[in-house]
Amino acid sequence: MNKPSIDKTLFDKMFSAALNSQKNAYAPYSKFKVGASIKLINDETIYTGCNVENRSNGATICAERTALTDIIKRTGECKIETLLVMSTTDNQTIAPCGICRQMLSEFGPLDAKVFICDSHRGLIAETTLKDLIPFPF
Ligand code: THU
Repeated sequence: MNKPSIDKTLFDKMFSAALNSQKNAYAPYSKFKVGASIKLINDETIYTGCNVENRSNGATICAERTALTDIIKRTGECKIETLLVMSTTDNQTIAPCGICRQMLSEFGPLDAKVFICDSHRGLIAETTLKDLIPFPF
């Protein structure tokens, strides 16, 4: 497993939170279960999300966006320090989709850390929000 640039205890906490949330993913169509965890600036809570699909494809919500809406619902604000997103397949590495990148950019800062993970392989890559969406609307 690659070594995360954040404290190992925090990384492990975020990893398990995303794993737990991923188990609740509702993905009967794609079978691609995704979990996400978010740590905010000045907030020790680890917030989580999972993808929720719909037979009308366009109504599907990604794990990152269910986490963001949960944060806003619970706290009314959102300043991301770290995002961890986790898939569960050996052959397809996850990366946040375009709509998630746009929504995440609204709740930056752009130097927020992003960990791309897999439930079997652990940490695959580390990046930043700015690298994901360098020129946000
Ligand atoms: N998905 C996420 O939840 N997050 C991502 O970063 C990419 C894709 C979901 C949406 C859909 O339910 C499934 O993965 C397959 O695209």
